Amino acid sequence: MKRLVTALLLLAFAQLPALAQAPDPAAGKSLWDGNNTFCKNCHGKNGEGAFGPDLAGRGLSAAQFQQAVRKPWGVMPAFIEDQVSDAELAGMAAYFATLPKSAEPGPWRVPVAAEASHGQQVYMSQGCAQCHGATFDMPRASFGGRAGDFAQMKELVYTHTTAMPKLEPTRPGQRLRMGNFNTLRLSEGQMKEIYDWAHDEIGFRPALQAQLAAGNGATYALNVANNGEAGKGLAAQGVTIDLVIPAGITVASATGNGYKGVHMDALAKANVAEWQVPRIAPKDAQAFTITLSQPPANAADLKGTIRWAKPAPKTGPNLDVVNFGIRPAGPGR
Ligand code: HEC
Ligand code: HEC
Repeated sequence: MKRLVTALLLLAFAQLPALAQAPDPAAGKSLWDGNNTFCKNCHGKNGEGAFGPDLAGRGLSAAQFQQAVRKPWGVMPAFIEDQVSDAELAGMAAYFATLPKSAEPGPWRVPVAAEASHGQQVYMSQGCAQCHGATFDMPRASFGGRAGDFAQMKELVYTHTTAMPKLEPTRPGQRLRMGNFNTLRLSEGQMKEIYDWAHDEIGFRPALQAQLAAGNGATYALNVANNGEAGKGLAAQGVTIDLVIPAGITVASATGNGYKGVHMDALAKANVAEWQVPRIAPKDAQAFTITLSQPPANAADLKGTIRWAKPAPKTGPNLDVVNFGIRPAGPGR
């Protein structure tokens, strides 16, 4: 009993916020490595430097670290206490103090493409691509789903931590991973160039989302939804849904609109089961099922893609895709 009480007390203390505690480098490392912050997208997996400067072994104090994150002097967005607390920043500073200095910064996670248009170059050189990829997929889908305008884009970039929760309530325990950009470093003119590239050149995307779930035995359910707002969002037209069938497995049966059967796919270098749906409008959802000869040994091998003919990027190749697997999935961040 006494042991139980002690254990409960310890547990209770473990839940208290880290008040005036010594910085915890292990906690700093796990926050850096995990999914709650995306600092590493710019500073490198081990703080070796990339788009942002190297942090490993640089000997920055907790106070210097905190200042750089709350009031960045350059292009880095500012992060607030809810996103990363002072104690957590002290932990990160302590973690980087345990690492050797980086000999040379690593490459940018997403380099500026030489063939990029002017607007896309501004987007890339401001750091957005380090998290959103070369083609800005997730925001293009959100904006395509609600016909977002320039005023809304500005709000979401300059005052991200207050504007984002108004549009999309965060789940408990979930942190916003993008910080607030500074109008002095990312001017409104540059922001407009980014918006115009996203809206007029590459264009917005329909807000498609796919969910693949295991059902009974070797039957799987695939749901494809257009999360756009009725009357505002873009419809996807000429939609092709491909599900990769792992080697050694065959399709026993399939249901859903537009099932075309199985073919060898040159791109996936595998058999794929395909559905073709003429149009998925905002608020539409389509349900498909597939029954295989046996479940794949590794569920992660069951995955696929959604592509659509229209709307297509107005310039450049159509690389728009939504990848899905046994997990809720949408366009990548
Ligand atoms: C968009 C890319 C980007 C992201 C994301 C980012 N940084 Fe930075 N960081 C930079 C750049 C660029 C600088 C150089 C100074 C500036 O631009 O303010 C910098 C500077 C710093 C510095 C000061 C380094 C020095 O030499 O003085 C620290 C500390 C730092 N960042 C920590 C973080 C932490 C912690 C996070 C996540 C919460 C983070 N950064 C997220 C790009 C980024
Ligand atoms: C550190 C990674 C990171 C960087 C750098 C970044 N973003 Fe984001 N952005 C995100 C994430 C993650 C979200 C989703 C909300 C969140 O977690 O903050 C988001 C959300 C957004 C949204 C709102 C999307 C919606 O659902 O309406 C817009 C717009 C956006 N980003 C634009 C930009 C632009 C423009 C830049 C460059 C100036 C940029 N982002 C830089 C990670 C980043």
